Amino acid sequence: MSNFTNSEQNKKNSEKQKVVLAYSGGLDTSVMCKWLQVEKGLDVVAICGNVGQDEANLEWVKQKALGMGAIASEAVDMREEYANDVITHAIAANALYEGTYPLLSALSRPIISKHIVEIAHKYGAAYVAHGCTGKGNDQVRFETSIHALDPDIKVLAPVREWDLHTREEEMAWAAKHGVPVPTTAAKPYSIDDNLWGRAIECGVLEDPWAEPPADIWTMTADPKDAPDEAEEIIVAFESGKPIALNGKRMPLLDLITSLNDVCGKHGYGRIDMVENRVVGIKSHECYECPASLALINMHKALETLCLDHDTLHYKEGIDSKWAETVYDGLWYSPLRLALDAFCSSAQVFVTGEVRAKLYKGSLVVTGRRSNYALYDYNLATYGDGDTFDRSASAGFIALHSLPSRTWSRVQGPASMLVAEKAEAAAAVAQLDRANLVEVSHTSQSKDGSEKYRSA
Ligand code: ARG
Repeated sequence: MSNFTNSEQNKKNSEKQKVVLAYSGGLDTSVMCKWLQVEKGLDVVAICGNVGQDEANLEWVKQKALGMGAIASEAVDMREEYANDVITHAIAANALYEGTYPLLSALSRPIISKHIVEIAHKYGAAYVAHGCTGKGNDQVRFETSIHALDPDIKVLAPVREWDLHTREEEMAWAAKHGVPVPTTAAKPYSIDDNLWGRAIECGVLEDPWAEPPADIWTMTADPKDAPDEAEEIIVAFESGKPIALNGKRMPLLDLITSLNDVCGKHGYGRIDMVENRVVGIKSHECYECPASLALINMHKALETLCLDHDTLHYKEGIDSKWAETVYDGLWYSPLRLALDAFCSSAQVFVTGEVRAKLYKGSLVVTGRRSNYALYDYNLATYGDGDTFDRSASAGFIALHSLPSRTWSRVQGPASMLVAEKAEAAAAVAQLDRANLVEVSHTSQSKDGSEKYRSA
């Protein structure tokens, strides 16, 4: 059939372009592994990274890729690097997107991207490919990170391109092309997990009013089934980095793993939120983040002790911008580096210990101490040993209130208060009239559930 002689065929094969595929072992990336060969004529090098996810049997994943015709497959344990080079910065920045989400997916993408690019260079691959859908954040993060590391590499996103729109279509394509089809039923949720937590979306969670079903949680106990005894934990920090748990020094990776266990056992770390994706969609996500939430809250508690008033307040804005920048896929950016420089400068004296109590789904900080604490007992105390100079307060207040007094004299609050009173009275009268017509905004339906009725 071929017009090539063997050596010509070999030569042609060796001239085939290569693509490095971020491979997880699941249906999507397995089909993709074959699809890139069949549809794009590329040689596939699969890379499977361990960032601490549940499904981290890398040897199995690696063999599966080779079975799917990949010319090479590399398994990379990225956990230490993820903890030390990424998560450390996230803790320093108290990183919570929209004040709530510890960014577990957003933080893992840059480190995976770095390895993808390194492996592409090692194999001389012109292409890299990922398995993200076309409407999520992760495609943005992968491609932005990859292009920041190598502006010339070409990125393929087969899910955005191929005609396989349903799981059934994918299964049919897989069966036709000799890709093993999963025998287990499709999982009802989309899950992403690693050291820093677990994200759950889709299925019934697409209704933001739906209470998350009990079966979505795997890292955290149901708080009502958590131990009846509270448990105390103590985390030691050195310049903002957690270094010991309950007096035992350990690498950050082990500390996070241990905290996931102990906090998860007490049912701590569940999040149910609606968030703003970078592509403009609002999505309902649930997260389990026992270690990440514990470390961020305990780190914040130490900062209240060790950072001066102005730095602490200014840092709230820096922290929130850091989280947004990383969420938006800009890990490899001058802005993230500059924000990090602020955070790391602020961390120098964030050294000390924080104690917290875990009990049935909650974590409460119960103590903090540091050799660099700016908390001064003698200044704070109302008891003996008070060194605060109260006589200085009068002069301070005289100057602090000077703008208020000037404003009061010139523009005067008196007339404003009179006008406000009249407005308030009118508003109340109007409300009373409205209440006569519309009794209630919500009513009970026959099945007892609360139904929202728009007015
Ligand atoms: N919404 C989170 C983020 O964009 C998690 C994304 C991955 N979630 C998932 N269930 N697949 O960072």
